[in-house]
Amino acid sequence: MDLSVAIGSLRIPNPLIAASGCFGYGVEYADSVDLSSLGGVAVKGLFLAPREGHVPPRIVETPSGMLNAIGLQGIGVHRFIDEKLPELRERKATVFVNICGTTIDEYVELARILSDADGVHAIELNISCPNIKEGGITFGCSLPGTHNVVSAVRRATRLPVIPKLTPNVTDVASFARAAEEAGADAISLVNTFLAMAIDVETRRPKLTNIVGGLSGPAIRPIAVRMVYECRQAVKLPIIGMGGIATAEDVLEFMIAGATAVQVGTASFVDPFIWTKLLDGIRAYMRRHRIETLSDLTGTLDTTARHKAWISS
Ligand SMILES: Cc1cc2nc3c(=O)[nH]c(=O)nc-3n(C[C@H](O)[C@H](O)[C@H](O)COP(=O)(O)O)c2cc1C
Repeated sequence: MDLSVAIGSLRIPNPLIAASGCFGYGVEYADSVDLSSLGGVAVKGLFLAPREGHVPPRIVETPSGMLNAIGLQGIGVHRFIDEKLPELRERKATVFVNICGTTIDEYVELARILSDADGVHAIELNISCPNIKEGGITFGCSLPGTHNVVSAVRRATRLPVIPKLTPNVTDVASFARAAEEAGADAISLVNTFLAMAIDVETRRPKLTNIVGGLSGPAIRPIAVRMVYECRQAVKLPIIGMGGIATAEDVLEFMIAGATAVQVGTASFVDPFIWTKLLDGIRAYMRRHRIETLSDLTGTLDTTARHKAWISS
């Protein structure tokens, strides 16, 4: 059975990538998870400089999900390259570096720095973080903003460029098209949904930041719909995510049009989820006599629904 998939020029051994912000810098898990057995590791979002992030509480559990407003706490790109990348390289991880800036120039500088670093396989352009005031989602919520930042980064690096789209827009497919026109190699979606939770006893927001981003199984059907819409709109490979917790969820995203997927919140619940997901995918492939997993991408069969619609 062949579980490998291609994201542009990058071939990964299977479609399971650890989602940014939910797997540290990868090295924290290296003694318990074989990083080379994953499709890849998307590391925590990096700015040029280190950042503190928001004051806690910055995580809240919600029905079938979680709300976070970490505020992109991070060690900055230089410390990442010096302190984390050597071990990721040693462990043979496929590394997607999630980058964030407040200006296009910052994104470009990050891309240039990472291009020269040995062991980085792709750049995931975080233009969708809902938890910071400047940059990020400001680009991802504007079509010209998306186009301009993607094309500037595309020109600055030899690495595959993968903009990560926000679901906090009316028509996500138009952002996928803007990314494609700007020269993206793939797109990833979705980042978290803007949301909030209130403690009714104190009438205070549960997060210090007041609003945060919702992730986990609660968002999955919306994320699947968005992947499906983007599949209709662009030819680019799509990395789908949002609430994936079982092998069936992975397969659902692939049938909707994803080439690969990322798993975030569910890995907090079960850090060893990867083996279970891979076992479940293999069992499905055996049951459906599928030799090559990538054949499943975009195979949604809508004919039955159309027949039912016509006959009613
Ligand atoms: C605690 C936390 C931190 C996150 N940090 C980042 C980040 O730094 N960069 C980013 O692009 N996405 C970040 N995300 C979003 C996830 O990568 C993912 O897009 C989202 O959570 C949906 O997937 P999931 O439902 O499997 O978690 C974060 C999510 C969580 C829960």
